[in-house]
Amino acid sequence: PKKFTVPQFLATKEKKQKISMLTAYDFLSAKILDEAGLDCLLVGDTLGMVVQGKSTTLPVTVDEMIYHGEIVSRAVQRALIIVDMPFMSFHVSPSQALENAGRILKETGADAVKLEGGVNQVKTIETIVSADIPVMAHLGLKPQSVRALGGMGKIQRDEDDLIADALAVERAGAFGIILEMITAPIAKKITDTVTIPTIGIGSGPGCDGQVLVTPDMLGMNADFHPRFLKKYADLTTVMTNAAQAYAKEVREGQFPDESHSHT
Ligand code: KIV
Ligand code: NA
Repeated sequence: PKKFTVPQFLATKEKKQKISMLTAYDFLSAKILDEAGLDCLLVGDTLGMVVQGKSTTLPVTVDEMIYHGEIVSRAVQRALIIVDMPFMSFHVSPSQALENAGRILKETGADAVKLEGGVNQVKTIETIVSADIPVMAHLGLKPQSVRALGGMGKIQRDEDDLIADALAVERAGAFGIILEMITAPIAKKITDTVTIPTIGIGSGPGCDGQVLVTPDMLGMNADFHPRFLKKYADLTTVMTNAAQAYAKEVREGQFPDESHSHT
């Protein structure tokens, strides 16, 4: 399969081709998602929550992003791979951001980085892009801002601010924008205003593409069912049934049997 590239990602907008994106963190899942034909895989800092079980994304380190980014990159042949820049890996200065973005690209083999921010990150985006490292921006609900906002669900929703942010990151050279938990009409307006693709999550049908957190859409997070989330599978039930059947057969001496033994 031919690699899906950043220029191809940019070209989808004019062709009105919707972009499909899911998150990936480990080898076997990334391989399945790539072979299923996903356009983009995001190694998101959500790994702090869905892989590590922490309550926010704040503790995730550059080394952890590189660890998972390298694994995912090795599993994938076609999908465009984007790796999140974690909290405090790009906030100190544009040169700190460039060094970390460079490490992520060199040490993982990924195609691009993503960072949360708009007008406030213009210099940083320009600096990273000046080294030919593609940058995706992320607006709306910004989980790395949880402490300043006072809660995970708190969202920047002012329409004028959001449009100013979107135009600023486009001008700074970003090749795409994640729009997280923005009302559908504003997400549509942003999408119609910028020339780079927008990828929505909880932001309605008007974006140029869509992303979901894979363990959430697979139904592995039984207690998590926000309105925006569509669960395409119920892996909690699948895994529970498989684990219980296995444990029962082991306890009752039914497994392993002759057909699963070497004689
Ligand atoms: O970290 C992540 O998975 C993300 C997506 C929710 C867009 O940033
Ligand atoms: Na993220």
